[in-house]
Amino acid sequence: MTKDILIAPSILAADFARLGEEIAAIDAAGADWIHCDVMDGHFVPNISFGADVIKAIRPMTTKVFDVHLMIAPVDPYLEAFAKAGADVITVHAEAGPHLDRSLQAIRALGKKAGVSLCPATPESAIEYVLDRLDLVLVMTVNPGFGGQSFLDSQLEKIRRIRSMIGERPIRLEVDGGVTRDNAAAVAAAGADTLVAGSAVFRGGNSVNYAANIAAVRGAAEGGRVPKLHANAAPSIRAGEPVRIR
Ligand code: DX5
Ligand code: ZN
Repeated sequence: MTKDILIAPSILAADFARLGEEIAAIDAAGADWIHCDVMDGHFVPNISFGADVIKAIRPMTTKVFDVHLMIAPVDPYLEAFAKAGADVITVHAEAGPHLDRSLQAIRALGKKAGVSLCPATPESAIEYVLDRLDLVLVMTVNPGFGGQSFLDSQLEKIRRIRSMIGERPIRLEVDGGVTRDNAAAVAAAGADTLVAGSAVFRGGNSVNYAANIAAVRGAAEGGRVPKLHANAAPSIRAGEPVRIR
């Protein structure tokens, strides 16, 4: 059995004046997860939104909320994002000195734990926390802004992390500059979860969103290498507490 490809539109590219409607539109258009990019103007050079906004949009969909925290420090805010309705909480390996502690804290809150790596960070940063992870997020742009170009240098890192994951039930997510044109290469390298902001929200209405999501998904499914994914996909459902391991 192979892992399904999941498409996670980043709401950073949505019309913030109509954020609730935009969430409903991407839900109806076939989004698997809702990717929420939280930026603090400190860890990254941009400010987006925080836990109160996530709490406000949570009732708009039952899909998994995939919350990508680009903030430092991160530990003091984990509980707020858990309470706001995050299902997956992803922290950056570069955001603080105690990644292992942050990951333990996320699971203790009953949430799935993810770690993200900036483009310059080697995969070795996660070698000793693999068993605390439900998701690895490889940044394929420098975090902070939507609409940047995909960094091909990260394809090798994706391949290496796919190999490191082995049989563990960990999703491998890619974020930044993903389009219908590079989704096949991303999936061929071993990614199973694709974040896309500009590529999904292009066109500004739900008909276009559905076509955009289908195009990225179709390209990714065409590029995947099934033999790399021997095990069943870890299933993450919205609102589902995790078992503490
Ligand atoms: C960048 C964010 C990404 C970004 C994706 O810091 O983490 O999620 O918004 O947007 P696109 O797909 O436009 O690169
Ligand atoms: Zn993101």
